[in-house]
Amino acid sequence: VEPAAPITQYRERAGIIDLSWGHPHPDALDTRAWAGATADALVRHGWEALTYGYTAGPGPLLEWLGAHVGRTDARAATTSETFVTAGASHALELVTTLLTRPGDMVVVDSPTYHLAIRTLAGHEVEIVGAPSDEEGIDPDGTAGLIEAARRAGRRVPLLYLVPTYGNPTGRSLPSRRRAALVEAARRVGTRIVEDDTYRELGYGGEAPPSLWSLAPDGPVIRIGSLSKTVAPGVRLGWVNAAPELIRELTGIGYVESGGGVNHTAALTMAAFARSGGYDVHVAGLRRRYARQRDALVDALRTAAPPMPVPSPDGGWFVWLPLPDGVTARSLRTVAEKHGVSFVEGSVFFVRRGGERHVRLSFSLFDEDVLTEAGTRLGRALHRVTGTR
Ligand SMILES: Cc1ncc(COP(=O)(O)O)c(C=O)c1O
Repeated sequence: VEPAAPITQYRERAGIIDLSWGHPHPDALDTRAWAGATADALVRHGWEALTYGYTAGPGPLLEWLGAHVGRTDARAATTSETFVTAGASHALELVTTLLTRPGDMVVVDSPTYHLAIRTLAGHEVEIVGAPSDEEGIDPDGTAGLIEAARRAGRRVPLLYLVPTYGNPTGRSLPSRRRAALVEAARRVGTRIVEDDTYRELGYGGEAPPSLWSLAPDGPVIRIGSLSKTVAPGVRLGWVNAAPELIRELTGIGYVESGGGVNHTAALTMAAFARSGGYDVHVAGLRRRYARQRDALVDALRTAAPPMPVPSPDGGWFVWLPLPDGVTARSLRTVAEKHGVSFVEGSVFFVRRGGERHVRLSFSLFDEDVLTEAGTRLGRALHRVTGTR
């Protein structure tokens, strides 16, 4: 007989605390509030909640998103600058479909979100890692790379990065580099796709202004997500871009055919936001994920041999540099014997790089489990460095 078909993407591995999943903590998924918002949306909008939706997304969500962006960033969005998608992944897929042709070159930060590389790779483009250092992407070096490709006759329509509480590094691009990168993109005529998925999950000060907010004249396309702040299962995200690009998105054949993406969930989200539930919920998430981060980081600092253990200001990931002579590959084998796992750093690079880093996600587990995971990884590190 066939095994039962699974419900979730997450798969438990017996005896292993698997820090590779960038998934929310189950208790952060508020089923009761979502049920209330669903009923509210259906009562308030009646049949309009269940029919084909306006192609850019339903008015109530476009309006809330536009104002909301103004509260979490340095600039609000108008409804004509906003398009509702089925998550940030879908936003990237749509924008890549619109802007690229087979054979184009696409530039990505190094390192960057590994599944964005996968998404781009589905478009027969050549993906090239941008020059970068400890502070993040190098604007001048990136402009030089794009100009050289242009001289060789290539089109370079887009540059993808996660500049705020990045996946995998947890770092944010410093202000002067933000300004320089926007300027460089303008100069070379390449659109920046700014993946702003983690903006609202900052644990210290304010998130820096987005690249999008710095460039009202349109070189930046920002993609947002409600997966980390509300729930990935509802599949909701958005694009902020110049009105012409938003119009092009609404004109994509399957959007015209199917109407607004995820219309009923989008109206439910608008109801959740209207109830005031969203803001309270996200404030609680920040406290939760800050505690989870601290549990993992403190345990590692206690249990590992002397080595730097960075504590990110936001997002869900610790990007851990490994001691001399230790590779992510060799550590993983030993770590799994100690009952803990992670993602090897090399998957976040297009070609080479990251062999001596690992990404640890602290989003999915309780603090006591994360303390145990950090302790196990510390022991594995002692084993591979021969210090115990
Ligand atoms: C940087 C980044 N972008 C996008 C996604 C996926 O977002 P969504 O669920 O909205 O497609 C993730 C999730 O891990 C992510 O880390």
